[in-house]
Amino acid sequence: MRKENRNDCDMNRRGFLKTAAVTGAALCVPTVLSKTMATEKAANSSSGTSVTVGSGMAAIRNHRTLGSGRASMEVSAMGFGCMGLNYHRSQHPDKKQAIALVHEAVERGVTLFDTAESYGPYKNELLMGEALKGYGDRVFVTSKFGHKFVNGVQVKSEEDSSPANIRKVCEESLRRLGVETLGMFYQHRADPDMPVEVVAETVRELIREGKVLHFGLCEVNADTIRRAHAIQPVTAVQSEYHLMHRTPEESVLPLCAELGIGFVPYSPINRGFLGGAITEYTQFDATNDNRQTLPRFTPEAIRANLRIVEVLHAFGRTRGYTAAQVALAWLMNKHPWIVPIPGTTKLSHLEENLRAADIHFTAEEMRNLEEAVAAIPVTGSRYNAEQEAKVQK
Ligand SMILES: NC(=O)c1ccc[n+]([C@@H]2O[C@H](COP(=O)([O-])OP(=O)(O)OC[C@H]3O[C@@H](n4cnc5c(N)ncnc54)[C@H](OP(=O)(O)O)[C@@H]3O)[C@@H](O)[C@H]2O)c1
Repeated sequence: MRKENRNDCDMNRRGFLKTAAVTGAALCVPTVLSKTMATEKAANSSSGTSVTVGSGMAAIRNHRTLGSGRASMEVSAMGFGCMGLNYHRSQHPDKKQAIALVHEAVERGVTLFDTAESYGPYKNELLMGEALKGYGDRVFVTSKFGHKFVNGVQVKSEEDSSPANIRKVCEESLRRLGVETLGMFYQHRADPDMPVEVVAETVRELIREGKVLHFGLCEVNADTIRRAHAIQPVTAVQSEYHLMHRTPEESVLPLCAELGIGFVPYSPINRGFLGGAITEYTQFDATNDNRQTLPRFTPEAIRANLRIVEVLHAFGRTRGYTAAQVALAWLMNKHPWIVPIPGTTKLSHLEENLRAADIHFTAEEMRNLEEAVAAIPVTGSRYNAEQEAKVQK
């Protein structure tokens, strides 16, 4: 769907929300409306009409819409990827500091927080449940199902998107997060033994039951998206997308545009690499970092790929932006229905990242940046063979 049509959808959605709120036709509408109003407080602050966010403070002042029609979801233009607060990104702050950072993000207008059953496993959801206690009417928390666990240990050779497991994960995620409804429930990886139609039907039932607001899919191909969307409209596809991994542009993003589905790029700074703080000497915590398993994060690959980071530095230097800001702003300038979810453990990085939402690149700037990056071959694949086998081609 093109932008103009999408705006029409937004208008239709607003109309729907009004009608539904009056008639009580939609279970979750009041929650959606209040979340929208809460962020408008942050949005208004730039004109000095609200005390929620100071006018010079780094904050998200714009919303974006993921999905369309009844499946649409209005969220802050940038979300927060929660995984690294206590999982897979090496050293992390203690619980009190992590919670304080999440509160900063909420106060600065972020309304989309992304977690998953598998982050920890479980401990990231538990942290977010504690962090977002009392904020449930202001933000959406999204989670994911589909990995297989036996006694708390992931069975990496298999996935489990059986209806029984989707329902079990949903109940457990709701309990750990301390909410009545998940903002979005994503399938984490496709399950070769479970047709996506069955998955979509199960999530459809959970939406009808008021346990889930919206349906999302991760790392799936265009055929799967189309089949799922025919059963239960998909609000967003969440897949890896950044200047060093542009595969979604081949068929997934065009299909999202055609069907009016939003896109949430995960690892939008390429797991920190495009921020410029990682070098061949960086030591990843052997007990808590999956980057050491990724071919793109060997010392040799890092040394070769730093040329790409240097392009971002050079591009940003003449404009007053950091490399991380260039990486995030590039994504956000690609389409108005893209909502990246960078993760961080630091207030300084949160502020830096949120400011990227205000950056506008001209079409020529976008082209120049893309050409300069594309001129440098990327060394090392993004996933090892086991992880690569799980993403749909
Ligand atoms: N659906 C999926 O399969 C999937 C897979 C992976 C991730 N995800 C989601 O995506 C989220 C983000 O992904 P990610 O953590 O892999 O990657 P990311 O957001 O690209 O990068 C996070 C890393 O970048 C660093 N960083 C953040 N801002 C920075 C800045 N301004 N300058 C320099 N470094 C910066 C962070 O370190 P500091 O703490 O030092 O800032 C952190 O180590 C996750 O939290 C998760 O919710 C989903």
